[in-house]
Amino acid sequence: MDVFEAIKNRRSIRHYKPDIVDDKTIQTVLEAAHWAPSWGNIQCWRFIVIRDPKIKTDIADTLSRVKIDNEWVENAAAKSIKQAPVLIVICAEKGKAGCSADGTPVTDKGDYWFMFDIALAVENLTLAAHTLGLGTVIVGGFDAVKAAQLLGVPEGYAIVTMTPLGVPERKGQISPRKQLSEVLFKDKFNNR
Ligand SMILES: Cc1cc2nc3c(=O)[nH]c(=O)nc-3n(C[C@H](O)[C@H](O)[C@H](O)COP(=O)(O)O)c2cc1C
Repeated sequence: MDVFEAIKNRRSIRHYKPDIVDDKTIQTVLEAAHWAPSWGNIQCWRFIVIRDPKIKTDIADTLSRVKIDNEWVENAAAKSIKQAPVLIVICAEKGKAGCSADGTPVTDKGDYWFMFDIALAVENLTLAAHTLGLGTVIVGGFDAVKAAQLLGVPEGYAIVTMTPLGVPERKGQISPRKQLSEVLFKDKFNNR
């Protein structure tokens, strides 16, 4: 599968088979994440691979309820985390990305560049998983402080996101994109 095909056909997967994902496959997927570019090549990402069903359930319980059509419903990814055999939690070391060696931020975005670096790694991870026939769904709606307590994440690190990893039980629903022309400007913002 070429990169363009993987980018276009990857979908968020929220239903998983119980099939085991072996350590070598997880290693391959994490290596893809680890080869992502990062601010100053600092590689602020840290990965926690969770197979323990009790820990997965505890983490799934930190997912926030979301409001859809004026109704509060469970975050769809909570069930996915319980179902999938593996959960990968992605943490960032704070105060490094976007900063000089003494920790001083060098742009108006402070050290929030860690979000950017993590996103690059996670995109690599999701594409690598898809290429290997595995599913993922990036999860942002959760209580990161509670999750950090459960996983013993120390001061100076933040959990940014997580994804279940496993064999898709069914295909992901296609979420259409806006027309590219809607988001594309020429020379200046809003100039079409
Ligand atoms: C930063 C971020 C946070 C997300 N958080 C959640 C989430 O909490 N729960 C969920 O079910 N999906 C979550 N998603 C998945 C998006 O809903 C999904 O990527 C989007 O609808 C596009 O669908 P696709 O991934 O199938 O192309 C998140 C995606 C991103 C990039």
